[in-house]
Amino acid sequence: GAPVEADVSKLAAGEMMTVEWRGKPVWILRRTPEMLAALEGHDQDLADPGSSENQQPAYAANRHRSINPEFLVVVGICTHLGCSPSEKFAPGAESGVRADWPGGFLCPCHGSTFDLAGRVFLSQPAPTNLEVPPYMWLSDAVVRIG
Ligand code: FES
Repeated sequence: GAPVEADVSKLAAGEMMTVEWRGKPVWILRRTPEMLAALEGHDQDLADPGSSENQQPAYAANRHRSINPEFLVVVGICTHLGCSPSEKFAPGAESGVRADWPGGFLCPCHGSTFDLAGRVFLSQPAPTNLEVPPYMWLSDAVVRIG
C-alpha cells in the first residue's frame, strides 16, 4: 500500500484524528502535557512496557512510544481480536476495568485497557501494545505513514 500523509497543524492539544493506511485506521493523538505525565509511573502495571513483544519500530520503545513525544501515531485496532478501541481520555468510573488505569483506549469487545501511548495493561485479553506503524515527519506539521 501507498504511504499516506497527514497534516496535523489543525489538531488541538488533546485531540485525535484518524487517517486510513492500508485499510487500517491510524490514530494521531496530540497529547497535552497532562496526558504525557499520565504515562509516568505505570511501567509495573504494563504487559510490555518496552514494546519488545511485537515487531515495532525502534522509536516505539520509549515510554511515549513515538518520535515526537507530543504526537502518538498508532494503529487503532485491538491486538486481541481486532476490535476498535474507544477513546476514554477521562476514564471516570468504567465498570469492569482496573482501577489503576489512567485512561486512554478501552476495547469494547473484551475490555482490554490501553494507555495514552497504546500500552496494554497486565492481565488483559490483548497480549501486546497497539501497533506503531512506520512513519516519519516531513515537517513539523506533516507526517507520512507507511
Ligand atoms: Fe479487544 Fe478482545 S478484541 S479485547
